[in-house]
Amino acid sequence: MDLPNHIAIIMDGNGRWAKSRGLSRVKGHEAGAEVVDKIIRKSAKIGLKRLTLYAFSSENWKRPKYEIVFLIKLLNRYLIKKEPEIMKNNIKFTTIGQTDKFPRKTQELIKKLTTKSASNTGLTLCLALNYGARSEIIDAVKKVSRALIDRKIKIDDINENSIREYFYDREMPDPDLLIRTGGEYRLSNFLLYQSAYTELYITPVYWPDFTVEEFHSAIEEFSRRERRFGAVDER
Ligand code: IPE
Ligand code: IPE
Ligand code: MG
Repeated sequence: MDLPNHIAIIMDGNGRWAKSRGLSRVKGHEAGAEVVDKIIRKSAKIGLKRLTLYAFSSENWKRPKYEIVFLIKLLNRYLIKKEPEIMKNNIKFTTIGQTDKFPRKTQELIKKLTTKSASNTGLTLCLALNYGARSEIIDAVKKVSRALIDRKIKIDDINENSIREYFYDREMPDPDLLIRTGGEYRLSNFLLYQSAYTELYITPVYWPDFTVEEFHSAIEEFSRRERRFGAVDER
């Protein structure tokens, strides 16, 4: 089976999962965090190179304050609790997004885990935190403009690949497979530039109900897709 190099996931449906059980939305986030664990473990086990998880979008600040506070607490708890497991499994932890908008404590925990795991060589686990693809592109345009003004680059140095140097994670390859749970047919401002030729797998299953078995089916389906990148298949 053709294993994708990079899988990205829009983990959606926590709120609806909770509502359908008569629970508060935050219970859905709690249940969702357990699924995050399972998917990370599975990814490391099958030898996936990169997993990017959309955990908080730049638009999610529009949510009720109590929900945002809960999500940040959950994130803090996660960053503390998971450190030993991340180190034991040789996982390299990274983030994309404007993390400087989070409370100082969260920023410190992110920095600590990123630094500590920087030389790990297994799965690269990237959390998209306060991430928005449009902001990423605008931030890149600003950095490129600065480099031009400072005469560090020339206009013709800017191309489809060199622009990536200015994205949040310059080492991130395009996702091969993008999974969205919760059944919405949209990207919700996630990796717009990088997903130009990404294969999409959308499932109605809410994130807290997403299983390792379905993760495996998504990968299996990916391996059956024919990727043409605009060319014709001459086989
Ligand atoms: C995704 O689940 C988690 C985050 C956006 C943090 P939602 O909270 O969006 O769940 P639904 O879409 O309302 O069901
Ligand atoms: C996308 O889900 C963001 C994350 C999963 C973190 P949303 O629930 O925010 O997306 P919309 O609002 O349905 O487009
Ligand atoms: Mg949602």
